[in-house]
Amino acid sequence: MSRTAHIVGWGKYVPSRVLTNDDLARMVDTSDEWIRTRTGIVERHIVNEGETTASMAVRAAREALQVANMKPADVELIIVATVTPDHVFPSTACLVQDALGATRAAAFDLSAGCAGFIYGLSVAADLIAGGAYKNALVIGSETLSCITDWSDRATCVLFGDGAGAVVLQANDADGGVLASILGADGSGGGLLYLPAGGSRLPTSHETVDQRLHYLQMKGREVFRFAVEIMPEATRDVLKKAGLTLADMSILIPHQANQRIIESAARALGVPQDVVYSNVARYGNTSAASIPIALCEAVEEGRIKRGDLVVCVGFGAGLTWGASAIRWSVPLPPAPLSRWKKAWYQLHYRYVAIRSLVRRFIRWFFARGVEE
Ligand code: COA
Repeated sequence: MSRTAHIVGWGKYVPSRVLTNDDLARMVDTSDEWIRTRTGIVERHIVNEGETTASMAVRAAREALQVANMKPADVELIIVATVTPDHVFPSTACLVQDALGATRAAAFDLSAGCAGFIYGLSVAADLIAGGAYKNALVIGSETLSCITDWSDRATCVLFGDGAGAVVLQANDADGGVLASILGADGSGGGLLYLPAGGSRLPTSHETVDQRLHYLQMKGREVFRFAVEIMPEATRDVLKKAGLTLADMSILIPHQANQRIIESAARALGVPQDVVYSNVARYGNTSAASIPIALCEAVEEGRIKRGDLVVCVGFGAGLTWGASAIRWSVPLPPAPLSRWKKAWYQLHYRYVAIRSLVRRFIRWFFARGVEE
């Protein structure tokens, strides 16, 4: 029996603010009918004042830790997949580590576009299987609204904000993350990218005036890539796991466009109801879309113990990836006792104070050095 990483906790967070197609039709030259028929999207969630990629990641991670009944101090690795970090540095993962009080965790961000969560899952699962860590948090979190040009109808109708997280734990039992495949083709980088703000085109008055801090996309080309790669990656990961399409209980694809999801199902020859979709309610939340969809599939009772869950994604890079997971924990999860819930609340209050004290001590001694 070999050691594998099992998903033992899951959580999601989406902001309360909803932006409907009709709202968008008041902002740009579009219509609810166009957006629904071309994308399947009906509404998306957008951050409220003060919410960020890190704050959403923390909310999703807290939920995932509660489901896993795990203390933050037991987490040894935090990976945040995102293309919209709070800062270029420090990493969003470090902000999350601090807010959770995950004092024993290594933390880093991972940039692989909308395939970021699968990249993170694969890296964490392999590190766990190899014996480096026992418990890891993998989070996908995005504030795409801050890099969306709200005057560009070709892109602004597609994206939304949110976060999803899973807790992975080492176990010798059957199941868990059985196999993952990852891929990249950098020659397609120009199909979906953020032109300015990096070392190639640092931020300047010109880059702001030319609206180069908003994502740009060649929609048709990305669409063509997506409909080819989704079925291919799904078949590849099943093959690597020694399984077939007939073994697959549910496919959780990246939620970019309902037409892409349906096309993948047709190409694979699987019924549409095997393929999970919630793109109508959230739009494309990039690295957050797969973990949000996974959480909702669990909450809706679409996944049960023993099921073979395949997650597949594609995105900017170009990147793609897929993971085959044998679901190994009973559902629904055991509810937390009142005391445990109170423990979590007290812990996060203590952690916030601890962080403030540490910042104060740093400030105090830095002052001493300057004087
Ligand atoms: N409302 C109304 N009309 C719109 C519009 C909107 N929001 N956006 C584009 N149009 C227009 C175009 O200007 C074009 O008009 P024209 O024919 O007069 O030039 C027409 O609709 C068709 O545009 P086209 O780009 O061919 O539409 P499409 O059917 O390819 O759908 C996307 C566009 C973006 C929905 C689709 O290409 C797509 O989903 N691509 C993948 C995007 C993606 O997944 N990105 C993230 C990857 S992680």
